[in-house]
Order: sequence, then structure tokens, then C-alpha cells
Amino acid sequence: MRLADEILITEEQLATRVGEMAAEITADTEPGSMLSVLAILDGAFIFCSDLIRRVDAPLRVGLLRMISITRGGDVDQLRFPADFPITGTDLLVVEDILDTGHTLAALSDRLMQQAPARLRTAVLLDKPAGREVEFKPDYVGFTIPDHWVVGYGLDSGGLYRNLPHITYVK
Ligand code: IMP
Ligand code: MG
Repeated sequence: MRLADEILITEEQLATRVGEMAAEITADTEPGSMLSVLAILDGAFIFCSDLIRRVDAPLRVGLLRMISITRGGDVDQLRFPADFPITGTDLLVVEDILDTGHTLAALSDRLMQQAPARLRTAVLLDKPAGREVEFKPDYVGFTIPDHWVVGYGLDSGGLYRNLPHITYVK
């Protein structure tokens, strides 16, 4: 495996789009509503930290470590962050990438069992070529071609999360 020479999404494009997504989320949030933002780790840690700093609404952040369903993760084994309210809240799930759709579909079903007042999902990247189950996120940063992308929090075998842009491995 080696990194492609090509940059798919530059640092500047990421900053601009994340700012736009934050503005969309702010505009869609009822004035005075308190957001509960659930960041799916590990991949979303950089995206979420940039996003929340641009959202203009009071919010709490919960960090949820989750292994993708396609790689053996199980939503029934999840340990939700302590002191992070879900029931009755204006809940925003923040994920790095939507690929097969299994992870977000299963997580959303699991979260709905806890009856949030509202559930929205923001994904930085959407890879529609990989889709196996339908899932419609509320906010999408970029739609990308069928590559294994890395950088800006996303990894290949644990590496490349620190790249400031998005590229891919070959
Ligand atoms: P899925 O939608 O259930 O296939 O799961 C998406 C999860 O798989 C994401 O949260 C990532 O952790 C991981 N993933 C899928 N595609 C990529 C990729 O291109 N690069 C890095 N991680 C990916
Ligand atoms: Mg992930």
C-alpha cells in the first residue's frame, strides 16, 4: 500500500466546506435548543473538533468509540459516554465517512431506542459506490469516488490520520 500522489480534497476545501456544514447545522437548529453532538471515534475526531467550533449553538459533546459493523463491531456492545444525554435531546451524530451504510444505519436504530427528540447525522465524506444499505445523512461534506481515503482523521491500518488533506491509498 502506498499513498496516491493526488490530493483528493485540499486543506482549504476542507476548511471551507466544514464551515458551510456548521452554518447549515446552525441554521437548522431551533434557537435556544441545546445540541447533543455524538462524535464517532476514531475517524471523526478531527472533523468533529473543527465542526463544533463553527456551530453557533449551545452544545454538549460525547465521544463514542465504535468499530464499523462491517469489521465486526456490534451496536449492542457500545458503551455510551457517561453523563451524555440522548433521550429527549436534539442529537447530532458526526461521522467521518459513509461507505456501506451498515454502521450508521445500525447506530441510528440503536439511538432511536433511546428516543431523542430529533436525530440528525453529519458525515464528512460519502462514498456511494460502497453502499449496501440505504442511509440518508442530513449533512454531507463531499461525495467521493470509490477509493480507500485517508487523512484528516481517516486511516489505513492506523496511519495517515494526521494528513491535513484527504488523499487515498493504492
Ligand atoms: P460503513 O458505512 O458501515 O461501511 O462504515 C463506515 C466506516 O468504515 C467509517 O466510519 C470508517 O471508519 C470506515 N471506512 C469506510 N471507508 C473508509 C475509507 O475510505 N477510509 C477510511 N475509513 C473508511
Ligand atoms: Mg469510523
